[in-house]
Amino acid sequence: MCGIVGYVGRQQAVPVLLQGLYKLEYRGYDSAGVALLGDKGLQVVKTRGRIRELDELLEKKGPFAASCGIGHTRWATHGAPSDVNSHPHLSEGGKFAVIHNGIIENYAEIKDYLIHQGVHFRSETDTEVVAQLLEFYYNECHDFFEAVGRVLRRIEGAYALGMLCEDCPGTLIAARKDAPLLLGYGEGESFIASDVTALLRYTREVSYMEDGEVAVLTEDGVQVFDALQQPVEKERHHIDWEVSAAEKGGYPHFMLKEIFEQPEAIRRTVSPRLKDGRVVLEDMKLTPEQIRAFTKVFIVACGSSYHVGMLGKYTLEHLTRRSVEVCLASEFRYSDPIVDEKTLVIVISQSGETLDTMAALREAKARGAYILSIVNVVGSSIARESDDVIYTWAGPEIAVATTKAYSTQLAVLDMIGLAFGEALGTVDPVEYREVVSELTKLPEKLEAVLERCEDIQRYAAEYFNHDSIFFIGRNLDYALGLEGSLKLKEISYIHSEAYASGELKHGTISLIEDGTLVVALGTYGALFDKAMSNIIEVKARGADVLALTTESRRAEMEKVASAVLTVPDTAPMLLPSLGVVPLQLFAYYMALQRGCDVDKPRNLAKSVTVE
Ligand code: G6P
Repeated sequence: MCGIVGYVGRQQAVPVLLQGLYKLEYRGYDSAGVALLGDKGLQVVKTRGRIRELDELLEKKGPFAASCGIGHTRWATHGAPSDVNSHPHLSEGGKFAVIHNGIIENYAEIKDYLIHQGVHFRSETDTEVVAQLLEFYYNECHDFFEAVGRVLRRIEGAYALGMLCEDCPGTLIAARKDAPLLLGYGEGESFIASDVTALLRYTREVSYMEDGEVAVLTEDGVQVFDALQQPVEKERHHIDWEVSAAEKGGYPHFMLKEIFEQPEAIRRTVSPRLKDGRVVLEDMKLTPEQIRAFTKVFIVACGSSYHVGMLGKYTLEHLTRRSVEVCLASEFRYSDPIVDEKTLVIVISQSGETLDTMAALREAKARGAYILSIVNVVGSSIARESDDVIYTWAGPEIAVATTKAYSTQLAVLDMIGLAFGEALGTVDPVEYREVVSELTKLPEKLEAVLERCEDIQRYAAEYFNHDSIFFIGRNLDYALGLEGSLKLKEISYIHSEAYASGELKHGTISLIEDGTLVVALGTYGALFDKAMSNIIEVKARGADVLALTTESRRAEMEKVASAVLTVPDTAPMLLPSLGVVPLQLFAYYMALQRGCDVDKPRNLAKSVTVE
């Protein structure tokens, strides 16, 4: 939520900030702004709307001569999207400009205090208190760094902050607690950003700020201090993502590009981890003895990552014969979970920054659990706070609706299941060999599914006017339906629900009437007959059924469904890895037909760093 970027160096700041903001726009896109510190002092340009509107405004008001600045793209929490609530926020005297990602939890109390001291506020945001408090303390101590220290001791909550002081040209101060922030190092220039995609064009040398740290950036470099204001030596990381990985590369939307990147992403995730017919998780520290010692396993995540966990429950329980509990991170955290030193908590997160997931991780850790995370963004907070991390290596995912991250998380979880099953001696060797062999074929099979995207486009053209769609399935197909339904809701705004087919007759079937569209998932062979019966039930009530099954069952399915999509046959536990692709494409084309903004759906943000 919210993207921040900052620059100090020898180039003009505006193009650097704008480029960074365009890359961060997926984090929030209801308003945007920059603060520039140059010959004319501190200037702020901000507006409600997208980065493009900010870009046009800067063009109109410019040129600006400033080689130091901060920029922000917002996902509103406190105060509606408006020009005045946009960041950066200025202090009343105009000496300080602040950008912020996160929430200042005690802002109301500080605001009251400052109002009593005669300070006038302009916005409804929690962030403005930081700017006002900075000026308030600065008026006492006349030292930017010291004023920042005092502010940080006073505020509570989560923040990644970028701050400028008019009296200190060429200096940018950044601070972090519970919100992502990284530092970028260039030749005669320094950067801050919420994520690395904003910096790739300028530098690949970065450090990740830790909670409580403050960084002072100038063109000569970056000094970092801990919460006690002691200097800290930061480890530098080299990022080897291609710049093109964060660009559309000829596709009309990031989402479509990322859907089509799935074969390659799966190849990157899987091939290095399969050796001589075995899963070898070299990046996992857990030993077979440790795996055997766990008495309880939780999977904790949010959104689509949670849906991966739902599938993981089926496969892990099947392969390890241990019970696995899947929890929404936001619920787990407050559920007084039964977790101890013998508990393994598998945390799944694309961004590695989701606040609820992070909080659940900390809760589990505090209770003694071992944390194994599955994360895409290298060096992210969740990755760093876990005991063990397996990266998905899916590359940057920009579209708000996740696709390739989901698929690669699933592949990692499947491999964890196989590795654990082997360590525990619970996996059938024949099945193990079959799944490993099918894992190597997944990329090709995914390519085959993608080749048929035009069929799905055709169905979307036929069905896009429906305003309520049901997804039904059993077992793995049920968990898959949850993801298909979420994708559709997220980007096309069509009401949709996913039901375990067996539950239909306990209530939901009353909603089925003439013409209701039911997407029936029947890929899982063991329950195919049951899937067929449920399709017949909804058809008898007038439903129009779009079914998904495997190639070998197409003919049978065609006897009952109005339209049939298929995926190649594979090992049962890998079917959702193929089945999800037609559902992603269906959501994509439905959204397109309805004229929706596919990559930036309303009210959503990719990285949710608020509760
Ligand atoms: C947001 C995104 C979802 C994602 C969820 C969890 O809601 O829009 O696509 O599944 O966060 O994100 P994470 O980064 O933790 O996987």
